[in-house]
Amino acid sequence: MTADKMARTISRPARLEGDLAVPGDKSISHRSLILNAIAQGTARVTGLSNGEDVMSTLACLRAMGAEIADGDNPGEYTVVGKGPTLEEPSDILDAGNSGTSMRLLSGLLAAQPFLSVLTGDASLRSRPMRRIVDPLQRMGAQVTGRQDGSLAPLVIRGGSLRGIEYDLPVASAQVKSCILLAGLSADGDTVIHQPALSRDHTERMVTAMGATVEEDGLALSLGPSSLRAVDISVPGDISSAAFWIVAGLCHPDSRVLVRGVGLNPSRTGIIDALLAMGAGDSLQLVDERTEGGEPVADLLVTPAQLRGAEIGGDMIPRILDEIPILAVAACFAEGETVIRDAAELRVKESDRIATTVGELLRLGADIEAREDGMVIRGTGRLTGAACESHGDHRLAMAMAVCGVLTDGETEVHGASDASVSYPSFWEDLELLAGLRQESPLPSGEG
Ligand code: S3P
Repeated sequence: MTADKMARTISRPARLEGDLAVPGDKSISHRSLILNAIAQGTARVTGLSNGEDVMSTLACLRAMGAEIADGDNPGEYTVVGKGPTLEEPSDILDAGNSGTSMRLLSGLLAAQPFLSVLTGDASLRSRPMRRIVDPLQRMGAQVTGRQDGSLAPLVIRGGSLRGIEYDLPVASAQVKSCILLAGLSADGDTVIHQPALSRDHTERMVTAMGATVEEDGLALSLGPSSLRAVDISVPGDISSAAFWIVAGLCHPDSRVLVRGVGLNPSRTGIIDALLAMGAGDSLQLVDERTEGGEPVADLLVTPAQLRGAEIGGDMIPRILDEIPILAVAACFAEGETVIRDAAELRVKESDRIATTVGELLRLGADIEAREDGMVIRGTGRLTGAACESHGDHRLAMAMAVCGVLTDGETEVHGASDASVSYPSFWEDLELLAGLRQESPLPSGEG
């Protein structure tokens, strides 16, 4: 493999082998900082993701006076709760590439007694914000943005809020969490009806911090609550582990152990999909345990002959971020894979239907875009070529995995975009390919 900052060239290693830990779960990391910052008491967070997205949340919170101190070990932080009121930031808050930072912090800011302006990079400034501006306005918040509240930068003059009953138009955990964060400080109950279950880390964490969230099927109800700080041990991110799971299953000679992966049922769609595609005993959950209120296991992966499957419906919110790498798996499966009901992919860090299909076509895949998904006919092989991340971390990593599985050389432009969620991705790839002896970071603290 040769490297410069932005492009990496990969060829298929003879064997893929290793034992590694991926960075802490990005979704849980954001929430562990945000919720502890507005709680009362002091919390120790371990295993926090060092990805750029989580660092954006951390910087925004510090700009609002939150006291978050680095601990002695990587991924270790102490958060001194200022609950529930933070300080007016003296400058614009920058969420970088992170939709989770922008949408969750907006819910928090809507109830803070000061003015704030939230911006992000070009990708984030093109992503839909009306989905949070609408419910926040219904709660009485003064919030607007470009194009009548559709796009960031967002301007929020926080104040008193009232609880609402709200039908979520999309199964989005970011929108749900934004409303729940605002609901913590609202007068009266906040009731949310979800079209399908999306990740539930916010509900779990606020409950552990003393709030009462009542669940009735897909409906959630939260009353005004003050939170008490809670120590959080962040499990490994299944969305990052997914790259090694697919690499290990599709490489002909592999044995990959990913340690300490979070297996919250609202996140395990990729495991269910790969098992439905015939992964069988080649994908084993080892030492299943509960850590910090979340199910965790080590994942042991060896080669498997996958077959195509149909992925859609309620499964989609549980696998949303893993669709680019699932599409790579489908190229190596026998038969056809159809992904439907996934139009939300079009408003992620890139239009992930267009970018995944476009980049896999460059490598010779038999793949077609649909309005709400894609159809992939597995050919069992791809051919190395130059490809592009489109500024999207998950695309950069999915294309890198193609390189590990592909004849010839694959050149990934925008390789450093992986740092948004997985800064040590390329070092870990070298480790598994036998080009490096040790993981760059201690286990569980990437
Ligand atoms: C996230 C929710 C998901 C996911 C994103 C992280 C979160 O987005 O794609 O990477 O931490 O809440 P949705 O808002 O579409 O569920």
